Amino acid sequence: MKAYRAALLRFDDNGQPLYDADGLLVTGPDARGRQVVLAAGDHGGLVGRYPGLAVEDLRGHLIAPGFVDLHVHYPQTDVIGAPADGLLPWLEHYTFPHESRFSDPAYARSVAEFFFDELQRHGVTTALTFATSHPASVDAAFGAAQVRGLRFITGKCLQDRHCPDGVRDQTEQSLIDTEALIRRWHGVDRLGYAITPRFAPTSTDAQLRGAGELAARYPDVWIQSHVAENQDEVRWAAELFPRSRSYLGVYDDFGLLRQRAIYAHCIWLDEEDRALMARTGTAAAISPTSNLFLGSGFFDHAAADAAGMRYGLASDVGGGTSFSPFHTMLAAYYVGREGQTKAGLSLTPGQLWWQHTAGAAAALGLAGIVGNLQPGCEADFVVLDPQATPLLARKTAQAGNLDELLFALIVLGDDRVVRRTVVAGAQA
Ligand code: GUN
Ligand code: ZN
Repeated sequence: MKAYRAALLRFDDNGQPLYDADGLLVTGPDARGRQVVLAAGDHGGLVGRYPGLAVEDLRGHLIAPGFVDLHVHYPQTDVIGAPADGLLPWLEHYTFPHESRFSDPAYARSVAEFFFDELQRHGVTTALTFATSHPASVDAAFGAAQVRGLRFITGKCLQDRHCPDGVRDQTEQSLIDTEALIRRWHGVDRLGYAITPRFAPTSTDAQLRGAGELAARYPDVWIQSHVAENQDEVRWAAELFPRSRSYLGVYDDFGLLRQRAIYAHCIWLDEEDRALMARTGTAAAISPTSNLFLGSGFFDHAAADAAGMRYGLASDVGGGTSFSPFHTMLAAYYVGREGQTKAGLSLTPGQLWWQHTAGAAAALGLAGIVGNLQPGCEADFVVLDPQATPLLARKTAQAGNLDELLFALIVLGDDRVVRRTVVAGAQA
């Protein structure tokens, strides 16, 4: 068992923040040997239950759940900051040529190691991640995550048309490879597989049909893709799939909407699409730094809430510009205020933080497992230093309540705030 004394942030079942200014977090093995939270709450109220237990004194710091990145491309670590007119030229000129390098297992493993170093430096402990179309890129990422003990989900990109030699796969082989990877990795340690059609325009009907059949055969694997990110992309999808009601409808027609299905962006949806997402339990990965960088558009939080959609925050590196959850939360706040068309304060700091922790975990179907520090959750957490920079120290010293503290961290925070990232009870 291990115990830590610090300020403590958690969330209740309704997504409301729970805060102990002088908190205690106790971690240790559960009946199955997993490292989990055994107790969390007020130090004075809890400490008497653990006589003799050594408590690490981290007062002056904030312990919070490890962040969950709901959509990121590890092979695009080196694509960050590649300028383009918009999504489609960005894919053609930078992303596809770069991803072709991931057929080389050694190269893929070296990028994967750098990627996980970055995630952990930024306090991200779980990510739903695209690999490339090469099975070796999936083995590289899972292998690196397994050594680090991470809860991590990835999958081989399915893309059998409208992309160049070097990244295009072959319909039948791509489905054989996907099934082999599911069997090799899904449910091993803390790893999970995601069936990963890149986006409808780069898959034939036959590939999407095969993906849907695999999804039906493996109901507890994840599904990830992109939808309705950019208006040129939406027009292209409509030309390619004229019989579907909408771009999202293409995925529905092939059996690819359900719980554990996560679609990045979801900007250019209509009300019927949003109702379909809510009805099927499909979740949106909101990627605000990417949407601002590529000029894609603005996610509509109010419409998503009105429809009852699930969602969480994502970096979408390399369309996104930062691995930092603080940068992503701040960008989501800006997007929420976009255009003065929406009244009020945009999102509260508690909502933003929840969307990048417990909310993102709930979108993955992992509520109560990661993204929170309630008893029974896996022991993935961050130790944050509210005094990491002179300005942050000044601002947080003046914070009169939790909202002000969290807002100061969101607006001024970055990797300098993350003093320690703990994965499965062990310092990463
Ligand atoms: N749509 C299809 N592929 C991609 C990708 O790699 N990044 C983003 N942002 N959108 C996509
Ligand atoms: Zn993406």
